[in-house]
Amino acid sequence: MVTVFDHPLIKHKLSIMRDKNTSTKDFRENLNEIGSLMVYETTRDLPVKDVEIETPMTEMTGSTLAKDVVVVPILRAGLGMVQGIVDLIPNSKVAHVGLYRDEETLQPHTYFEKYPKNVSDAICIVVDPMLATGGSAVAAIDMVKKQGAKNIKLVCLVGVQEGIDNVEKHHPDVDIYLASLDEKLNDQGYIVPGLGDAGDRIFGTK
Ligand code: URA
Repeated sequence: MVTVFDHPLIKHKLSIMRDKNTSTKDFRENLNEIGSLMVYETTRDLPVKDVEIETPMTEMTGSTLAKDVVVVPILRAGLGMVQGIVDLIPNSKVAHVGLYRDEETLQPHTYFEKYPKNVSDAICIVVDPMLATGGSAVAAIDMVKKQGAKNIKLVCLVGVQEGIDNVEKHHPDVDIYLASLDEKLNDQGYIVPGLGDAGDRIFGTK
Protein backbone atom coordinates (compact mmCIF):
# COMPACT_ATOMS: atom_id res chain seq x y z
CA MET A 1 0.00 0.00 0.00
CA VAL A 2 1.25 3.47 -0.89
CA THR A 3 -0.04 6.55 0.93
CA VAL A 4 0.82 10.04 -0.34
CA PHE A 5 -0.23 12.50 2.33
CA ASP A 6 -2.45 15.33 1.23
CA HIS A 7 -2.19 17.70 4.18
CA PRO A 8 -1.82 21.50 4.08
CA LEU A 9 0.82 21.58 6.85
CA ILE A 10 2.93 18.93 5.16
CA LYS A 11 2.67 20.70 1.78
CA HIS A 12 3.57 24.04 3.36
CA LYS A 13 6.61 22.66 5.17
CA LEU A 14 7.77 20.60 2.20
CA SER A 15 7.65 23.68 -0.04
CA ILE A 16 9.95 25.50 2.39
CA MET A 17 12.33 22.55 2.23
CA ARG A 18 12.34 22.43 -1.56
CA ASP A 19 13.41 26.09 -1.82
CA LYS A 20 17.15 26.15 -2.53
CA ASN A 21 17.50 29.32 -0.43
CA THR A 22 16.17 27.66 2.74
CA SER A 23 18.81 27.60 5.50
CA THR A 24 20.18 24.41 7.06
CA LYS A 25 18.39 25.30 10.30
CA ASP A 26 14.99 25.74 8.62
CA PHE A 27 15.51 22.64 6.48
CA ARG A 28 16.21 20.52 9.56
CA GLU A 29 13.36 21.93 11.56
CA ASN A 30 10.82 21.41 8.80
CA LEU A 31 12.06 17.87 8.12
CA ASN A 32 11.61 16.92 11.76
CA GLU A 33 8.19 18.56 11.89
CA ILE A 34 7.06 16.68 8.79
CA GLY A 35 8.50 13.51 10.35
CA SER A 36 6.20 14.05 13.35
CA LEU A 37 3.16 14.77 11.20
CA MET A 38 3.76 11.74 8.99
CA VAL A 39 4.37 9.34 11.83
CA TYR A 40 1.17 10.46 13.52
CA GLU A 41 -0.74 9.13 10.50
CA THR A 42 1.56 6.19 9.91
CA THR A 43 0.95 4.80 13.38
CA ARG A 44 -2.86 4.87 13.24
CA ASP A 45 -2.99 1.07 13.13
CA LEU A 46 -0.56 0.38 15.99
CA PRO A 47 -2.01 -2.20 18.39
CA VAL A 48 -2.83 -1.08 21.93
CA LYS A 49 -3.52 -3.11 25.06
CA ASP A 50 -5.52 -2.36 28.19
CA VAL A 51 -3.84 -0.80 31.17
CA GLU A 52 -5.47 -0.17 34.53
CA ILE A 53 -5.03 3.42 35.68
CA GLU A 54 -6.28 5.59 38.48
CA THR A 55 -7.36 9.10 37.57
CA PRO A 56 -7.77 11.69 40.34
CA MET A 57 -11.48 10.72 40.27
CA THR A 58 -11.68 6.96 39.78
CA GLU A 59 -10.16 3.78 38.41
CA MET A 60 -10.46 3.03 34.72
CA THR A 61 -9.05 0.93 31.89
CA GLY A 62 -6.84 2.95 29.57
CA SER A 63 -4.64 2.04 26.60
CA THR A 64 -0.95 1.63 26.10
CA LEU A 65 1.04 0.72 22.98
CA ALA A 66 1.14 -3.07 22.76
CA LYS A 67 4.33 -3.31 20.72
CA ASP A 68 7.71 -1.65 20.73
CA VAL A 69 8.44 0.80 17.95
CA VAL A 70 11.88 0.79 16.34
CA VAL A 71 12.79 3.72 14.13
CA VAL A 72 15.35 2.73 11.49
CA PRO A 73 16.98 5.75 9.85
CA ILE A 74 19.01 5.00 6.74
CA LEU A 75 22.25 6.93 7.33
CA ARG A 76 22.85 9.63 6.87
CA ALA A 77 19.81 11.54 5.60
CA GLY A 78 17.34 9.38 7.55
CA LEU A 79 18.77 10.85 10.77
CA GLY A 80 17.05 14.10 9.84
CA MET A 81 13.62 12.60 10.57
CA VAL A 82 14.43 10.75 13.79
CA GLN A 83 13.92 13.51 16.34
CA GLY A 84 10.49 14.38 14.98
CA ILE A 85 9.40 10.76 15.31
CA VAL A 86 10.97 10.16 18.72
CA ASP A 87 9.26 13.32 19.99
CA LEU A 88 5.91 11.62 19.33
CA ILE A 89 6.94 8.11 20.40
CA PRO A 90 9.39 8.78 23.25
CA ASN A 91 9.83 5.09 24.13
CA SER A 92 10.80 4.12 20.61
CA LYS A 93 14.22 2.59 20.02
CA VAL A 94 16.47 3.77 17.21
CA ALA A 95 18.36 1.29 15.04
CA HIS A 96 20.93 2.55 12.53
CA VAL A 97 21.52 1.29 9.02
CA GLY A 98 24.50 2.77 7.19
CA LEU A 99 24.28 2.64 3.41
CA TYR A 100 26.05 4.72 0.81
CA ARG A 101 25.19 4.94 -2.82
CA ASP A 102 27.91 4.22 -5.39
CA GLU A 103 27.86 7.42 -7.45
CA GLU A 104 28.35 5.51 -10.71
CA THR A 105 26.28 2.36 -10.34
CA LEU A 106 23.82 3.98 -7.87
CA GLN A 107 23.92 0.64 -5.98
CA PRO A 108 23.75 0.71 -2.14
CA HIS A 109 26.63 -0.61 0.02
CA THR A 110 26.36 -1.37 3.75
CA TYR A 111 28.95 0.13 6.10
CA PHE A 112 27.14 0.01 9.46
CA GLU A 113 24.20 -1.65 11.21
CA LYS A 114 23.06 -1.67 14.83
CA TYR A 115 19.73 -2.82 16.26
CA PRO A 116 17.92 -3.04 19.56
CA LYS A 117 17.03 -6.49 20.97
CA ASN A 118 13.36 -6.73 20.15
CA VAL A 119 13.28 -6.09 16.40
CA SER A 120 11.41 -9.28 15.49
CA ASP A 121 8.37 -8.38 17.59
CA ALA A 122 8.47 -4.61 17.03
CA ILE A 123 6.87 -2.24 14.55
CA CYS A 124 9.84 -1.05 12.48
CA ILE A 125 9.64 2.34 10.80
CA VAL A 126 12.39 2.68 8.19
CA VAL A 127 12.99 6.34 7.37
CA ASP A 128 14.81 8.08 4.55
CA PRO A 129 13.77 11.46 3.16
CA MET A 130 14.31 10.49 -0.50
CA LEU A 131 12.87 7.42 -2.26
CA ALA A 132 14.79 7.64 -5.55
CA THR A 133 15.74 4.34 -7.24
CA GLY A 134 14.59 2.56 -4.08
CA GLY A 135 17.89 0.65 -3.91
CA SER A 136 18.77 1.86 -0.40
CA ALA A 137 15.26 1.30 0.92
CA VAL A 138 15.16 -2.25 -0.48
CA ALA A 139 18.60 -2.99 1.02
CA ALA A 140 17.68 -1.48 4.40
CA ILE A 141 14.43 -3.46 4.56
CA ASP A 142 16.37 -6.62 3.62
CA MET A 143 18.69 -5.94 6.56
CA VAL A 144 15.86 -5.32 9.02
CA LYS A 145 14.09 -8.48 7.86
CA LYS A 146 17.30 -10.45 8.45
CA GLN A 147 16.97 -9.32 12.08
CA GLY A 148 13.54 -10.97 12.12
CA ALA A 149 11.36 -7.89 11.62
CA LYS A 150 7.91 -8.79 10.34
CA ASN A 151 6.04 -5.51 10.64
CA ILE A 152 7.81 -2.82 8.61
CA LYS A 153 6.70 0.59 7.36
CA LEU A 154 8.73 2.83 5.04
CA VAL A 155 8.37 6.58 5.63
CA CYS A 156 9.97 8.91 3.08
CA LEU A 157 9.45 12.54 2.24
CA VAL A 158 9.74 12.70 -1.52
CA GLY A 159 9.59 9.71 -3.85
CA VAL A 160 9.25 8.74 -7.49
CA GLN A 161 7.31 5.88 -9.06
CA GLU A 162 10.51 3.97 -9.90
CA GLY A 163 11.43 3.81 -6.20
CA ILE A 164 7.93 2.75 -5.20
CA ASP A 165 7.92 0.00 -7.86
CA ASN A 166 11.29 -1.28 -6.68
CA VAL A 167 10.22 -1.49 -3.03
CA GLU A 168 6.86 -3.03 -3.90
CA LYS A 169 8.56 -5.64 -6.11
CA HIS A 170 10.99 -6.77 -3.38
CA HIS A 171 8.89 -6.07 -0.29
CA PRO A 172 5.16 -6.18 -1.13
CA ASP A 173 4.36 -6.53 2.59
CA VAL A 174 5.83 -3.09 3.44
CA ASP A 175 3.52 -0.08 3.46
CA ILE A 176 5.06 3.06 1.92
CA TYR A 177 4.25 6.60 3.09
CA LEU A 178 5.27 9.74 1.18
CA ALA A 179 4.74 13.47 1.57
CA SER A 180 5.02 13.90 -2.21
CA LEU A 181 5.21 11.76 -5.34
CA ASP A 182 7.54 13.68 -7.65
CA GLU A 183 7.91 13.60 -11.42
CA LYS A 184 11.11 11.73 -12.24
CA LEU A 185 14.76 10.87 -11.61
CA ASN A 186 17.43 12.72 -13.56
CA ASP A 187 20.53 11.05 -15.08
CA GLN A 188 22.44 11.42 -11.81
CA GLY A 189 19.70 9.68 -9.84
CA TYR A 190 18.35 12.87 -8.25
CA ILE A 191 14.64 13.40 -7.83
CA VAL A 192 13.13 16.18 -9.96
CA PRO A 193 11.80 18.63 -8.84
CA GLY A 194 12.92 17.15 -5.48
CA LEU A 195 14.91 19.17 -3.01
CA GLY A 196 18.52 18.32 -3.90
CA ASP A 197 20.79 16.13 -1.78
CA ALA A 198 18.86 15.66 1.46
CA GLY A 199 21.95 14.66 3.49
CA ASP A 200 23.90 17.72 2.35
CA ARG A 201 20.98 19.99 3.10
CA ILE A 202 20.43 18.53 6.58
CA PHE A 203 24.09 18.66 7.57
CA GLY A 204 25.20 21.71 5.60
CA THR A 205 27.78 19.76 3.60
CA LYS A 206 28.44 19.84 -0.14
N1 URA B 1 19.03 11.28 -2.59
C1 URA B 1 18.94 12.62 -2.35
O1 URA B 1 19.43 13.10 -1.34
N2 URA B 1 18.29 13.39 -3.22
C2 URA B 1 17.74 12.90 -4.36
O2 URA B 1 17.16 13.66 -5.14
C3 URA B 1 17.84 11.50 -4.61
C4 URA B 1 18.49 10.72 -3.70
